[in-house]
Amino acid sequence: MNEEKEILIKKLKAWGLPEKYWYVEEEDWDKKEVFKMINEEESYYFYGGAGTGKTMLACIIGKRLIRQGKHCLFITAPDFLGKIVAGFNFSSSYSSSEEVLEKYSKANYLILDDLGAERSSEFAIQQLYRLISYRERNLKPVIITSNLTLGEIAEKLSDRIASRIKGMCGERIIYFGKEDKRLLGKDDIERWKRRFWKGEEECLHM
Ligand SMILES: Nc1ncnc2c1ncn2[C@@H]1O[C@H](COP(=O)(O)OP(=O)(O)OP(=O)(O)O)[C@@H](O)[C@H]1O
Ligand SMILES: [Mg+2]
Repeated sequence: MNEEKEILIKKLKAWGLPEKYWYVEEEDWDKKEVFKMINEEESYYFYGGAGTGKTMLACIIGKRLIRQGKHCLFITAPDFLGKIVAGFNFSSSYSSSEEVLEKYSKANYLILDDLGAERSSEFAIQQLYRLISYRERNLKPVIITSNLTLGEIAEKLSDRIASRIKGMCGERIIYFGKEDKRLLGKDDIERWKRRFWKGEEECLHM
């Protein structure tokens, strides 16, 4: 049993899910009705103010997929672009920017966090376009989180990107409001972690 849990945590780590949400479960999410409308195999666009739960919900869904044995990568848009640029600057066989693009384009499931938080140079827009259009053309689901509406994405990143997101997400464009729940200090990561291991000795060797 513990071995199973260790494997899950190793996958969450290897596939880039933020450590803060490794131990979070559906029961920690306070609007349970949301799970009735979530199909983890589909694309979603979560937008709204800071601290409204977009990344948390995306990670709960990502963890659901990973528990089902599926492959779900997580990256923020600024980190994605940072990796692409690093691939150009220090081109080694592993870190070349084309490999980075391919990894995130071809992953079966992708969480692209904080779209619109990057600096939108022509280069950045082109790389994001390549990522999003590849996924749209090849019917690969993506959960995108952003502080921007799709209208603002159209202005900042291009109509072509916004249109593809709209096409992929259809009805599943969800507004998270403005109330910053970070300020409520509801996270209890240590308790979540203990609950996960059910009081057993911490046995991760990572
Ligand atoms: N529905 C919810 N149930 C329980 N806690 C929540 C919920 N929504 C948000 N929170 C709390 O708010 C915190 C911030 O959530 P999250 O990181 O998902 O914000 P975000 O919308 O991604 O913000 P940002 O746009 O700044 O990245 C969470 O760590 C959690 O404490
Ligand atoms: Mg977030």
